[in-house]
Amino acid sequence: MEPSENSILFTPYKLGPVTLRNRTVRSAAFESMGDRYSPTQQLRDYHVSVARGGIGMTTLAYASVARSGLSFERQLWLRPEIVPALHEITDAIHSEGAAASIQIGHCGNMTHWRTAGQMPVSASGGINIYSPTVVRALRESEIVELAKAFGRAVRLAREAGFDCVEVHAGHGYLISQFLSPYTNHRRDAYGGSLENRMRFMRMCLQEVMEAAAATGCAVLVKHNMYDGFRGGIEIPESIEIAREIERFGVDGIVLSAGFVSRAPMQVMRGAMPIRTLTHYMDCWWLKWGVRMFGRMMIPSVPFRECYFLEDALRFREALKGPLVYVGGIVSREGADRVLNSGFQLVQMARALVNEPDFVERMRREGAGCRSHCNHRNYCIARMYSIDMKCCQHCPDLPKSILQELEKEP
Ligand SMILES: Cc1cc2nc3c(=O)[nH]c(=O)nc-3n(C[C@H](O)[C@H](O)[C@H](O)COP(=O)(O)O)c2cc1C
Ligand code: SF4
Repeated sequence: MEPSENSILFTPYKLGPVTLRNRTVRSAAFESMGDRYSPTQQLRDYHVSVARGGIGMTTLAYASVARSGLSFERQLWLRPEIVPALHEITDAIHSEGAAASIQIGHCGNMTHWRTAGQMPVSASGGINIYSPTVVRALRESEIVELAKAFGRAVRLAREAGFDCVEVHAGHGYLISQFLSPYTNHRRDAYGGSLENRMRFMRMCLQEVMEAAAATGCAVLVKHNMYDGFRGGIEIPESIEIAREIERFGVDGIVLSAGFVSRAPMQVMRGAMPIRTLTHYMDCWWLKWGVRMFGRMMIPSVPFRECYFLEDALRFREALKGPLVYVGGIVSREGADRVLNSGFQLVQMARALVNEPDFVERMRREGAGCRSHCNHRNYCIARMYSIDMKCCQHCPDLPKSILQELEKEP
């Protein structure tokens, strides 16, 4: 089968100051391959394999702009000490013909004292049962400092050779915790009206855009179309937020949804394999708690190909600037359909966890090409405790995991 004649998938795209060789981007998907908040050879090898596999741009996932914003020890903390090691990674990505991006963010209440080096912080204080942890509200002076940290992160990313940064403003992390009425109960200038809830995001974007203009960096912003539960952000309000993001002149908005501390499977769709998740945990009481209450806390959301497309089209109609589609792209036909609907770039995570050279295969095989990913989400369950890996690349999985993966819908 031939790909659709008007396919733009393998045409170059100018993303701000960088030109991508095609319209594909490896979405930020936490590799869990860092060591004490620093990059490793394993992280380099994974991204080089994706770059070699034909991607337009690959994204190193979720680097924190501050120590307080780290969720995991195997996560990156973007600081001057790791710039040389990151530069080795971007050099290697570039020599395979791909561009390099890094997602920057702050996890807010999704951490523990030990990882964050302090009590977890958020827009408002309380208890986050998903971490689980007690959280305190940020002081105004800290909010100003954290916004500046986003700007510093862009400068460091450029020093390390990245072509683009992706600001994580969705999925219930810190910027999203300010935006969402579910997590923001402040009574000062950062809470209440939408205008106030957007203030922290605006401060971060101001710093990011200044640093990006000064250093020649492309900027994407990952944004929630909706949080995915009653009391969270819904599409009409989210469109207003997206318009505000556009006003900063960003190079693209990545449209996603879901909230890690309330509706995590809205992001990825499918079911979380709880047995697998707990198999890799070493904290006995957490293991026990998740086995007892996991299915209730992490409800399944059915997967289907291009699952965000209808919602994303509402944003396409309302917005003028470049938009990046993410969510359930598993075939050449799906990627073409999304691009033909008016999106400028397509992002993929699991298709590339499963097969780093899926892009090259789409180019070679054309319209009939499909990913071998089955969306049982072993990679996600595993990533919380050890590295991100596809079950199809793990030959010696225990029987209990194999049985669970067979059972999942
Ligand atoms: C293992 C894994 C880790 C992820 N980690 C992140 C992350 O760090 N930041 C983020 O914005 N999204 C993360 N995601 C979500 C993906 O970026 C993407 O939005 C989602 O998986 C839908 O794309 P897909 O259907 O192509 O997998 C992760 C997804 C997976 C599978
Ligand atoms: S582990 Fe499962 S969901 Fe993840 S990439 Fe592999 S097949 Fe896809």
